Amino acid sequence: MKALVLSGGAGTRLRPFSYSMPKQLIPIVNKPVLEYAVENIVDLGVSDIAVIVGDRAAQITEALGDGSRFGARITPIHQDRPRGLAHCVELARPFLGDDDFVMYLGDNMLPEGITKIAEEFRADRPAAQIVVSKVPDPRAFGVAELDADGAVVGLEEKPNRPRSDLALIGVYFFTSAVHQAVAAIEPSARGELEITDAIQWLLTHGHGVKAGEYDGYWKDTGKADDVLECNRHLLGALNRRVDGDVDAASELVGPVVVEHGARVVRSRIVGPVVIGAGTLVEDSRIGPDTSIARDCVLRATQLTDSIVMAGASITQVPGLHGSLIGRSASIGPSDHAEAHHRLVVGDHTHVEVAA
Ligand code: G1P
Repeated sequence: MKALVLSGGAGTRLRPFSYSMPKQLIPIVNKPVLEYAVENIVDLGVSDIAVIVGDRAAQITEALGDGSRFGARITPIHQDRPRGLAHCVELARPFLGDDDFVMYLGDNMLPEGITKIAEEFRADRPAAQIVVSKVPDPRAFGVAELDADGAVVGLEEKPNRPRSDLALIGVYFFTSAVHQAVAAIEPSARGELEITDAIQWLLTHGHGVKAGEYDGYWKDTGKADDVLECNRHLLGALNRRVDGDVDAASELVGPVVVEHGARVVRSRIVGPVVIGAGTLVEDSRIGPDTSIARDCVLRATQLTDSIVMAGASITQVPGLHGSLIGRSASIGPSDHAEAHHRLVVGDHTHVEVAA
């Protein structure tokens, strides 16, 4: 079996981050979402992995390398612009050959892994094995309709009036039968070749399509709130580890990780919290539910339920909550005497101030 990981796409719902990084590299508990995907694939015993990349190919390649770090071999495949998930399958055809493969959307998080789904697929190799999960608003997803016996009746991509509350999770197993379906379908109203339409084609033409409901935690990290929710979820499993320096005037409560070379000075950290290597936290109150990446500086700051990316600095901000702070961003007091706010924020940035 081979694997196809999709890591292109514009990521418009994750602006401004997606202006400077592929959305699949957003860190959850200080590790890019995409790495969790690759690890789940390697857990299946699959080591030949193609990654579809867009304009930000260089960053993806830098993050994953040649795959040897994961015990895999990674082949990047370039897509000129987002043309749909089924288009990615078409692009990868020379790589995939006639092998079975797992297709994994690089922004989907399934921390409990996908081995059970793989076992189901391997047991009787339907043309497509899909995975569904109940969601409150299915209109943002591919939606599957199942009959009373759990057989797939129909599929629709982002329907206005969904026929069920079962969203398609971004993990699919296929045999080579899917290539015929991909070649037969037409672009959707949004101009993309939808994998959902290809699976519907398989169904209509009598191929086996099986669905299983995922019983683990799943999150499409397409939006800032989802990223934070997923971060909270993963932090929930954190164990305390202190490899950095914590001074006597500081207090660590609950599961707190202080990475090597990090320093905690006169601060109170309430876990779950991760403080990345080389980061300084001074005179601050951090946590719960917060991950801070490497080489950040936080001074006289209070921060809960947030993600701080590498190299950011935050000084004298007393009430930060539910925040995503980008790489090397700096937030702090004004150099001027006047009591006003001064913002230099990027396009499509979202700022909420305490009224
Ligand atoms: C894609 C798929 C959709 C699926 C979703 C899961 O949507 O098209 O069928 O339910 O991923 O994350 P996207 O997130 O690319 O809009």
